[in-house]
Amino acid sequence: MNVLIVGGGGREHALAWSLKQSARVDRLWCSPGNAGIAAHADCLPLDFDDKQKVAAFHRQNKIDLTVVGPELPLVKGLADTVRSFGGLVFGPGRLAARLEGSKTFAKSFMKTHGIPTADFRIFSEFEEASAFIRSGEWPESFRVVKADGLAAGKGVRVCADRNEVLEAVEEMMVRRAFGAAGENVVLEEMLAGEELSVMAFCDGKKLLPLLPCRDYKRVGDGNVGPNTGGMGAYSPVSAISEALWARIEKTVFQPFLRGIRSEWLDYCGAIYFGLMLTPEGPRVLEFNVRFGDPETQAVLPLIGNDLFELISATALGELGDVALRRRAQASVCVVLASKGYPGDFETGKPISGLEPWADAPDVAVFHAGTRRRDSQIETAGGRVLGVTAWGPDLAKARARAYEAADKIKFENVCFRRDIASEG
Ligand code: AMP
Ligand code: GLY
Repeated sequence: MNVLIVGGGGREHALAWSLKQSARVDRLWCSPGNAGIAAHADCLPLDFDDKQKVAAFHRQNKIDLTVVGPELPLVKGLADTVRSFGGLVFGPGRLAARLEGSKTFAKSFMKTHGIPTADFRIFSEFEEASAFIRSGEWPESFRVVKADGLAAGKGVRVCADRNEVLEAVEEMMVRRAFGAAGENVVLEEMLAGEELSVMAFCDGKKLLPLLPCRDYKRVGDGNVGPNTGGMGAYSPVSAISEALWARIEKTVFQPFLRGIRSEWLDYCGAIYFGLMLTPEGPRVLEFNVRFGDPETQAVLPLIGNDLFELISATALGELGDVALRRRAQASVCVVLASKGYPGDFETGKPISGLEPWADAPDVAVFHAGTRRRDSQIETAGGRVLGVTAWGPDLAKARARAYEAADKIKFENVCFRRDIASEG
C-alpha cells in the first residue's frame, strides 16, 4: 500500500515511524515532512489548496490512503477533496472539522447533544459583548474568552477580572489580533481542575479511545510562562479510575457519537477531547479533529496493533470489533525546543547526539522542526525534537527519555525537566 502523510511535525514523524513498521505499507510519502521523516518517507512540498494537483499526485503515485495530521487542511476541506476523486482518507470532512475550526460551532454542538462543558455565551457584536460584561448580568466566573476560529493555539485568554475580559474581547473583536478568527467570540465560565487529553479513532459509528495522556502547555517547569504547542506528554495517566473512565464514556464519548450521527457529520479520523476534571465531573474544554502533538508521540509507541490497519479501518468505517493491544506500559515524550520559543528563536543550529538512539528498542527521537544541510541535521523550528521513551512503568520511561534528552545537543536547547514527574 502507498500512504501519503500530510504535515511535517513530531506528530507526523511518529505516524510515519509507526506506519513504516506495518508489513502492509510499501511506500510512504509525506508533505512537507522534515529531516527525520525523510528516513521513512519520500518528502516533498505539495499545494493542498490546488485540488487538481492533489488529484494528479494521488493518481500518479497510486496513493491508497491519505493520513492528514494537522487541523488546517482538514478545516479547509482536504478530506472532502480526496474523497471527491475516490481516495481513502483518514480525517474528517470540512463540515465535521468545524468542531475544531469554530469554537461557537463546537460549543453549540456540545449544548445540543448534552456533552458537559463550561457554561457560555456567544457574541458576534463587540457592543453587545461589552454591554453584557459591564452589566450586572455578567457572572464573575465568565472569565475565559475564545476567538471563534483557528488562531494557532493562541486564541484563548483566561482572564483575572472584568477589565481583562473586556480587554481580551476588544483585542479579538475590534483590534482583530487573530484576524477573522475573532469575528465571533465565546465567553465562558472558568473551570478548575486537572486537565486530561483523550484521543480516539472514530469511524463515525464507533469510538476507539487510546490511553489517556497529559500534555504540558506552558513553556517552563512548574507550568509557568507562556503557552506553547506542547512541551511534553506522558501516557497513561494513572490517576484515572475505572469509574471516572466509565463516566467519560457515558457523558462524553456516547453523546459525541450520537451527535455526529444525528447531524450527519462525516467523521472518519482522529478525535481529541481536551477535558477538565472538575469536582462536578469531566467537562469538555475543546475538540481537536486530529491527533495531538506531542501527545501522539507519547501514545503511538504504546500501541501493539498495526497502525496501518487501525487507520485504514477507521477511514473505511470498519472499526467494528477492532480492539487495541498494548506494546508497552508507559511512555514519556520530552520536547527539545529552541531558546526563545514560543517567541522569537534562532534556527540553523547543528544537532548532535542523534545516532545512538536510531536503533534503540525503547527510544524514538521524533523530529518536529529540523532540516538537513548536506550531511548535517540542523534546527528549523521552535519545537525541534520530541524525545520519547517507553517501558514497563512511567518512572523507567521517564528516566530513559531524560537520559536521551541530555545526550542530544544543539546550541540554545531548552526543555522542561518536570515532564511526567507527578505521574
Ligand atoms: P482550548 O484551546 O479551548 O483547549 O484552551 C486552551 C487552554 O486554555 C486549555 O488547555 C485550558 O488550559 C485553558 N482553558 C480553556 N477553557 C477553559 C475554561 N473554561 N476554564 C479554564 N481554563 C480553560
Ligand atoms: N498539544 C495540544 C494539541 O495538539 O492541540
